[in-house]
Amino acid sequence: MDSTRRQRPTTDQGTSDEDAELFWERHHRTRRAWGARVNPLLAETAAPLRPGAALDLGCGAGGDAFWLARRGWRVTAVDISTTAVQRVRERARDLGVADRVTAQQHDLARSFPAGQFDLVSAQYFQSPFPLLRSRVLRTAARALRPGGLLLIVDHGSTAPWSWSQDNHFPAPTEIADELDLDPGHWSVLRADTPRRRATGPAGETATVTDNILLVQRTAG
Ligand SMILES: C[S@@+](CC[C@H](N)C(=O)[O-])C[C@H]1O[C@@H](n2cnc3c(N)ncnc32)[C@H](O)[C@@H]1O
Repeated sequence: MDSTRRQRPTTDQGTSDEDAELFWERHHRTRRAWGARVNPLLAETAAPLRPGAALDLGCGAGGDAFWLARRGWRVTAVDISTTAVQRVRERARDLGVADRVTAQQHDLARSFPAGQFDLVSAQYFQSPFPLLRSRVLRTAARALRPGGLLLIVDHGSTAPWSWSQDNHFPAPTEIADELDLDPGHWSVLRADTPRRRATGPAGETATVTDNILLVQRTAG
């Protein structure tokens, strides 16, 4: 754990535990090469933006962080898995973007990276363990600079190769309700459920639905 970069815990309830860390460690160790592609909705949202400081919550293999860094963003990439974080650091060096990617290990239910961001991205930041997700995402919304964007993309349906076959996913409006953000300070720019053709680890394809919520911080 990179304790020098941590802010104080976001919760004192200790709801996320070693099991979560073990689960995601195992997940990342067994999925060595897959997942380093940019997520299409992150690319679509960030492509027209002027690069600034970005935060990637649950960065996994780092595909989004590398894509952003190659376009000039300074990216803080965070994951609970030390294996994922270590690999993101190594791959960032290999890709020549190590100066723009800072990979940090956090259990986001317990600690949150320091800083203010122009873009916070939570791509499929979903877990079978208690995550205090709304609290994490509210903290993320508060870490935005005025004008900054919080992009939340969740599974709205499950691909056959997914680690989870859970089919209960909150709709974008439910996610927005849970965040309970003051409309005087944050605006919802997008809340919809597009479908796309997804490709799995063995090249298999399936049509899946994503649940998207895009929020902008309008005032400090
Ligand atoms: C479903 S994966 C999505 C990974 C990546 N964003 C992507 O789109 O490929 C969820 C990610 O969140 C991470 N994660 C789960 N619980 C976490 C927590 N409490 N704190 C930080 N990261 C967590 C996992 O290790 C995993 O990399």
